[in-house]
Amino acid sequence: MALQTDFIAGAEAENTLQSICYKRGSLQLLDQRKLPLEITYLDIRDASDGWVAIRDMVVRGAPAIAIAAALSLAVEVFNFETFSGTSEDAASFLVKKLEYLVSSRPTAVNLSDAATKLKQVVMQAADTSSKHEDVFQAYIQAAEIMLKDDVTSNKAIGSYGANFLRDHVKHSQQLSILTHCNTGSLATAGYGTALGVIRAVHAEGALKRAYCTETRPFNQGSRLTAFELVHDNIPATLIADSAAAALMKNGRVDAVIVGADRVAANGDTANKIGTYSLALCANHHQIPFYVAAPLTSIDLSLSSGEEIIIEERSAKELLNTHGGLGEQIAASGISVWNPAFDVTPANLIAGIITEKGVITKMGKDAFDIKNFVQNATQQTFV
Ligand code: MRU
Repeated sequence: MALQTDFIAGAEAENTLQSICYKRGSLQLLDQRKLPLEITYLDIRDASDGWVAIRDMVVRGAPAIAIAAALSLAVEVFNFETFSGTSEDAASFLVKKLEYLVSSRPTAVNLSDAATKLKQVVMQAADTSSKHEDVFQAYIQAAEIMLKDDVTSNKAIGSYGANFLRDHVKHSQQLSILTHCNTGSLATAGYGTALGVIRAVHAEGALKRAYCTETRPFNQGSRLTAFELVHDNIPATLIADSAAAALMKNGRVDAVIVGADRVAANGDTANKIGTYSLALCANHHQIPFYVAAPLTSIDLSLSSGEEIIIEERSAKELLNTHGGLGEQIAASGISVWNPAFDVTPANLIAGIITEKGVITKMGKDAFDIKNFVQNATQQTFV
């Protein structure tokens, strides 16, 4: 269709790994299931391809899921040969597709947040023009801005996080930081959130060592985070999830930083399964535990983490190797419980590092996240 072309964005300029390769009309996703052994990109032609890629973990990580979903639909509408209908028909087509995309994975709020914002854009475009092309153009532009904004916001998270750690964490000459799951370039449009903070600390010469957990059962830590750390020449050590408590007891961790899939209004945070155990261990050893996440991961509609829907995934992820795709390793006939995420209560979290500054409890027992978010659009905090 006759829309403007020539938009390229993402992590391309960052010299980090790129999970999302987008040019107007074309989207390719790095197949993260094949990492670290194979680098293969899959063509995503439409929202159905996007939905399957998200459900099957070709692309994963809260921000990356949202952007991949939005762009899969942008590619679909850009490549329409014909669309006979008004601007309202175009808007209702896009709204339905966005609702479908949101159903791919439930826990990360970034996807539904992106869908809500994109729906507003298309409804507004349909109100101001009768041509379907204008609605599609507005949608594509808004989806592309999300891709671009994510990298900018991650860099700000990295910088706020590094500054904050320098000022607030003891032994702060050189820090050893433990992280969980994958929150880097592969989980976002580029740079990363928790891993972005580690990148920024390293760039300042203040990182002694990053520790990454394997992150069973899907192994995002050993396959993806370890891959990114080696790729960027960051001093790093991989540990089994079950080694974290011993590592902390041995005094080898100065801070723990993880990402988030959804942060409730009180600060309770859903993140990759195992995050809660790390927070308990960190608190027992009086090691500060931080969440690094963009404001799009905050869900003010939920008063606490109890309301967060936790995705349960296939038993095969535990029964077989390679996230369920490889050979069987568990006894046949065993039943399995495989929640993909858990909720860490706010009382175990020392601060939430965002692109607008670090949310702390400021001497109180609880975070005032609502107030922070309301002010965040007007000013920044350190
Ligand atoms: O199941 P995944 O791999 O999508 O889970 C990802 C995580 O839990 C991440 O820590 C979270 O999405 C933050 S990514 C910046």
